[in-house]
Amino acid sequence: MKTLIKNGRVITAVDDYYGDILVDGEFITLIGKSLDIAADKVIDAKDKLVIPGGIDAHTHMDMPFGGTTSADDFRTGTLAAAHGGTTTIIDFAIQTKGTSIVDALDTWHSKAQGKASIDYAFHMIVTDLSKAEHLEEVKRLIDREGVTSFKMFMAYPGVLLVDDATIFRAMSLAGARGGLICMHAENGVVINEIIRQALAEGRTAPKFHALTRPTKAEAEGVNRSIALAEMAESPVYIVHLSCHDALKKVKEARDNGIPAFAETCPQYLFLDYSYYEKENFEGAKYVMTPPLREKWNQDELWTGLKMNDLQLVSTDHCPFCFKEQKELGRDDFSKIPNGAPGVENRMSLIYNGGVAQGRISVNRFVEITSTSAAKIFGLFPRKGTIAVGSDADIVIFDPKKKMTISAKNHHMNVDYNSYEGMEVVGVTDTVLSRGKLVIENGKYVGKAGDGQFLKRSTVQLR
Ligand code: URP
Ligand code: ZN
Ligand code: ZN
Repeated sequence: MKTLIKNGRVITAVDDYYGDILVDGEFITLIGKSLDIAADKVIDAKDKLVIPGGIDAHTHMDMPFGGTTSADDFRTGTLAAAHGGTTTIIDFAIQTKGTSIVDALDTWHSKAQGKASIDYAFHMIVTDLSKAEHLEEVKRLIDREGVTSFKMFMAYPGVLLVDDATIFRAMSLAGARGGLICMHAENGVVINEIIRQALAEGRTAPKFHALTRPTKAEAEGVNRSIALAEMAESPVYIVHLSCHDALKKVKEARDNGIPAFAETCPQYLFLDYSYYEKENFEGAKYVMTPPLREKWNQDELWTGLKMNDLQLVSTDHCPFCFKEQKELGRDDFSKIPNGAPGVENRMSLIYNGGVAQGRISVNRFVEITSTSAAKIFGLFPRKGTIAVGSDADIVIFDPKKKMTISAKNHHMNVDYNSYEGMEVVGVTDTVLSRGKLVIENGKYVGKAGDGQFLKRSTVQLR
């Protein structure tokens, strides 16, 4: 099958030109001006941007968490992602304490098998490295299974939290082999103490989720993560960075030449603490960790993105329905499942808030939504760019089209949208995933099971 994409404005992290792209099978095979070549399908991309498919490096599909399971599975979640212009997700498998890491990977392979409309890869959440077998399993994941990044938690004591010795052990081991430790950086031990006091005083409403997780607790976690990584001589990647206090720690490290990387998420760029004040328990929709912060932090995060102290934007898509799932915490904020939806809206939100509102260039938009993730997580140049030989993961993006984000028109399997009513300019029109049409003029034309598992190589940015 040959597809010719004509007349588009092709944007990568470094290029900006008008040209035609020939896709043959799964790959981009030719790029040029006014290509006059027979093809099975011709797509006219006039007045549109032609960009590399988005890579969302942080999703949680079908994940047991907080006494329930995230509402999107690999079928609904990847379909929604495709609608929004994302063609690769990197999802989190979980090793629960006392179990095998390889078994956890098998479980996540089964969850995704036959369901995904777009390509996917896995990070592994590691909660137990107490045995020699666990260390061998980490090596096996990096060397043979294509799972080269590992998330560790400084939060959620008793469930996911690991101690500093375990983090240091993982960093030393993974770092020496080109693997990457992704840190959920928050001082969960102190946070739990603050939560205990709040509940004892009868403060149970959703807003206390935010008020019991101060920015200093995140900054301390980031600072400690970086110090541990430095001692282990390994790079470190901070996930879902939410605030200026934490960003300052990353910036300071990077200014000193330390290989510290970080992502932020749309929720921290567009939403703020005031959302927790919504009536009728609606604040629960925004209970995520780290929590939404005071609004002034948003400008600092945009500056961080512009200046490359933050390398990318991923969603931390972890949806729970308001009805029945968020409601588990009606009488106690600490029982509200932590997480929020977003995989479908990331590209439009960042284009709108970033490019349309003049904060970042269109090249930087591509870099922070696709290219940097590919480089950091070992997928470049197969993914993350438009080049001859790369996978034909291509998004035809209408930079003038407007849409109003709403649960009424989204495809995520969740009964609310965090950005309800927000008008954005910049909408995904057509999506190819490894050469196959998945979205055509806004309509899903893909097939569950066409998405493949991606074995990743080791860290490519240092
Ligand atoms: O609230 C969140 N972020 N839920 C997902 C789990 C995590 O920590 O990323
Ligand atoms: Zn986390
Ligand atoms: Zn997450």
